[in-house]
Amino acid sequence: MLNIKELYTVVEDEIGSLQLSKSPKNLYDPISYIMNIGGKRMRAILLLLSNQIFSKDLTLALKPAIGIEVFHNFTLIHDDIMDNAPLRRGMQTIHEKWDNNTAILSGDTMMIQAYQLILKTPDKYLREVLSLFSDTAVSVCEGQQFDMDFEITNNVTLQDYISMIEKKTAILLATSLKIGAIIGGASHVDANNLYEFGRNIGIAFQIKDDLLDAYGDPEKFGKKIGGDIDSNKKTFLFLKVLESCSEIDREKILKLFETNENTALKKKHVMDLYDKYDAYEVSNTQILYYHDLAIKHLNNIIGENKEPLYEFANQLLKREV
Ligand code: IPE
Ligand code: IPE
Ligand code: MG
Ligand code: MG
Ligand code: MG
Repeated sequence: MLNIKELYTVVEDEIGSLQLSKSPKNLYDPISYIMNIGGKRMRAILLLLSNQIFSKDLTLALKPAIGIEVFHNFTLIHDDIMDNAPLRRGMQTIHEKWDNNTAILSGDTMMIQAYQLILKTPDKYLREVLSLFSDTAVSVCEGQQFDMDFEITNNVTLQDYISMIEKKTAILLATSLKIGAIIGGASHVDANNLYEFGRNIGIAFQIKDDLLDAYGDPEKFGKKIGGDIDSNKKTFLFLKVLESCSEIDREKILKLFETNENTALKKKHVMDLYDKYDAYEVSNTQILYYHDLAIKHLNNIIGENKEPLYEFANQLLKREV
């Protein structure tokens, strides 16, 4: 059994062996750039962690794991255009360093490359894996559209929000784990428990992402702090404050989220309201709630080698990146 750190190295080596620099340079350089500026490699590692619960040989799952990672990086490139984000992993985003058209086309290419890698799944499991992955990829697009739609409406409920982050973020984690399980020869019951573990940990992960977007350390987080406030994102913090605040503060925060300015003053006013209504603590409580739900599903699985997954879930609670 490999631990998280060892699997990280396996994933990095495999990514390093991809032939990413080709001609035309303006298509492939951005791909090589995004794949080589870091990243936690969480989805690939989760896929492999899940796989090794059921199989002693990781090699069958390796290419699909990298495929999921390439897909994830593609979504980041397009997400950064949609979110007007200047920074990713502490570096310039691709649409800033090159331009929007380059970011669109390099991203498109990566989506196809992701399929090319996932196609290396053993034949026995290929149809099931491809079908699951394709459904998930469509869900991510749906989630991203809801995320953007919510920027310009005030009628977002917490339930709408959870459903949105489930689609844009959680389901890809769930699918990564399930693919690892399928390729490892797991039973349906075990594969679905891993899926549910991933879905719940994924919801916790996105709430934490919202939290770090407001409260994170810019040096560590690698993304622009307050970017969600700039874009009027209906994050968990925003929705929780809205749920519990006074009528006067409600009007205040709604008004702030109607402006398209991204001034320091807007950010300060919003952060004051987040602080006033304990958005930090309230979000952490919810993160723990989904973490605990996730653990229940992991407990349901009978088998050895589950330990690193518990550790992984625990690390996500503490993450600052
Ligand atoms: C960022 O994902 C996008 C979200 C779903 C919040 P990660 O935080 O996994 O990004 P990297 O790959 O580690 O940079
Ligand atoms: C993005 O959510 C999820 C996907 C990339 C599909 P965010 O927009 O919050 O992710 P970051 O914060 O830019 O990484
Ligand atoms: Mg974003
Ligand atoms: Mg986004
Ligand atoms: Mg975010």
